[in-house]
This record gives sequence, C-alpha cells and structure tokens, in this order.
Amino acid sequence: MKRFIYADNAATTKLDSDALNEMLPWLQDEYGNASQPYTFARKPRKALSEARTTIASCIGAQPEEIYFTSGGTESDNWAIKGMPRYDDRRATITSQIEHHAILHACESIERLGYPVAYLPVDNEGIVSPDILSSFITDETRLVSVMLVNNEIGTIEPISELAKVAHSHGAVFHTDAVQAVGHIAINVKELGVDMLSASAHKFNGPKGIGFIYIKSGTKIYPYADGGAQEHGMRAGTENIASIVGMAAALKKNCDHMDQTQNKLHQLEDKFLDVLKLSGIDFIRNGSANHIPGNVNVSIRNASGEMLLHRLDLKSIAISTGSACDSVNTQVSHVIQAIRVPEEYAHGTIRISFGRDNEESDAVEIAKAIVDILKIK
Ligand SMILES: Cc1ncc(COP(=O)(O)O)c(C=O)c1O
Repeated sequence: MKRFIYADNAATTKLDSDALNEMLPWLQDEYGNASQPYTFARKPRKALSEARTTIASCIGAQPEEIYFTSGGTESDNWAIKGMPRYDDRRATITSQIEHHAILHACESIERLGYPVAYLPVDNEGIVSPDILSSFITDETRLVSVMLVNNEIGTIEPISELAKVAHSHGAVFHTDAVQAVGHIAINVKELGVDMLSASAHKFNGPKGIGFIYIKSGTKIYPYADGGAQEHGMRAGTENIASIVGMAAALKKNCDHMDQTQNKLHQLEDKFLDVLKLSGIDFIRNGSANHIPGNVNVSIRNASGEMLLHRLDLKSIAISTGSACDSVNTQVSHVIQAIRVPEEYAHGTIRISFGRDNEESDAVEIAKAIVDILKIK
C-alpha cells in the first residue's frame, strides 16, 4: 500500500495525542454542566477557567478577554456582524484577500446597507498601511485585516495597520486563524482590539475556537440565551474541546521555534527539487510568511489536475483555485496578487505540518515533476 502523505495543514491538522488524552475524561465521566451550583460541576468549571487562562497567556491577553466559540468562522462573523454601527460610523474596511468567513460576513452587512471597502494588496499579498490610510475616514467603525493569509501565507503588518485604524477612532480586528499556535502572538504588541482563532488549525479539535475581545471594546453578544461567556455567547460550554484546544495551543507554543525551523527546511527541500527539475513556476507570497506554506503557480499547468493526480498517489495538497465541473476559477487571492494568467491556473498550495519529514517534501516535489513530465 502507498504511504499517505498529508501536506494540507492549512486546511486542518491532526489532533495532538496529549490534547486528546486531556479531552477524554470530559467526554464521559466528568460530564457535569459547568454552570450548575453543585459539587459535580466544580471540576468542569475549574477546567474551563484554567483553559481560558492558558489560552490568554499564550497570546498575552487577560483570561476575561477570551470568549470560546465554535471556530474561526463564528469568531469572524461575530467580529464583523456584532460591531455596533452608529449613524456617523457605519463603514467597515477589510482586504480583498480575506477568508470567505470575513468576506461573506462583510457582504451580509453590505446587504443591510452598511458600506464596506475592500483594500487591494501588492503582488506579495501585503496590505499596506499607506493604502489603509488612503481609504480610512472618521466614519470608519471597523477595520479587519487577517494576520496570515490562508492561501499564500503572507504575514501582514498588523501593528502598523492597527495604529492607522486607531488614529481614526476605528476598532481593529484580525483573523489570526492561520497564525495562532504557529507564530508568536502578543495581542498587546499587535495592538489589536479583536482576534479570531480556531483550534483545528493548531492540532486541536475541530468545531472549537475563540475570539479575543479587548476589555472595553463595544460589541453585541453573538448568541442570546444563558449567561455563559460573560453573557456574550450563550450555550452550554464544550468543556472537552475547550480543554483540548488549550492543551494543543500550549504544546505548539512551547515547541514553536523548533517546529518553525523544521518547516522552513521542508519548504527549502521541496523548492530545491522543483527548481532542479527545470519546471517553470513562481512562488507566491512574501519572504515574511508563515513557516510551512509553499504556494506555487506552475506555467501552463492545471492546479485541479495536479491535486487529483497527486491524490491518486496518496498525497493530499490543495489548489489555489475553486472549481466546479465546468469552470475552473482562479481564487480571489491569486487574482488579487495578479499572478499572470499562464501561471494562475497552475496554482497549488503545499502546507507542511510538524509531522511531515524531509522525505515527504522530496516525494511530493518528485511526484509533481513526474505528473507534469508525462502529461
Ligand atoms: C484565515 C481563515 N479564517 C477563518 C477560517 C475558518 O475557520 P473554521 O474552519 O474554524 O471555521 C479559516 C479556515 O480555513 C481560515 O483559514
């Protein structure tokens, strides 16, 4: 049987085994509802509080500034839709390369009559503070720019962007779903008011995430009901997943330097093999990118074809295009960074994770070369 190689860690990651072990008791024996007053609820309540403290300390926040959600999509929707928009401050600014959780939430508020501007990016996918300065006005209520792009891995100049937003009295949110657990984050140094994260991107369980909301930030509750999450997000807490998320984040943060070095080596190895083959490709993104992300556009190739042919070889990667049975469309990110037409359709994203080895990087690159040579 062929060895399965997973290199789509930007899509999701494998649950950490220590995190899983920490989750198990809360799924069966310790099933108490953390909000109840009796003794049986004490342990889950304590676990909830400890997880909040662990997560807060990993990003330089206070525990009461962390709100648990069902993941990145919910956190992003809350940030965009929950912002009170008064008569004189109705506008939102985001970028053209955000994840659809932000873009579609923005379209939703546009339908309600609130204006949204979408900032263009340069060809490395960077949102420049100067461009933000030229768009922002004193009517801007919210600016939301992602910390790391999920397709090309570019790290955005968030602290500078947040300063521009604040100088005009706007609130600043960042979608840090691809960043948390992978690069060092301190919300105070970044200067953000809100930050979204998702556990399954950092070896935690799926369906759980959090949003950091700086104390004093005015925002409507996400869900009305019980008093959970300081009355801001009602619903009985998912203790097992919250505990698993905290354990996974702590572990990733403790081993961050080591993992980053390994991932940079894997990127280099992959690119070396591809370059040696003579294949005509460009690497997308910026020198300042998330470790492990390699997004390449190969001249006159089809990203979709490559994905399926690699799948037949038991290799999982992703494309830079969304396709239906008739049309293959170049993704909004690849369009925004203006990848030339003859390369754009041949875009693929390889996202290495901590479990990948050098042999995986070599095998994936060789498989791509093989497929393109026998086209
Ligand atoms: C940048 C970014 N934001 C938001 C999300 C959505 O996160 P979730 O899958 O937890 O809803 C993703 C997931 O791909 C992402 O990459």
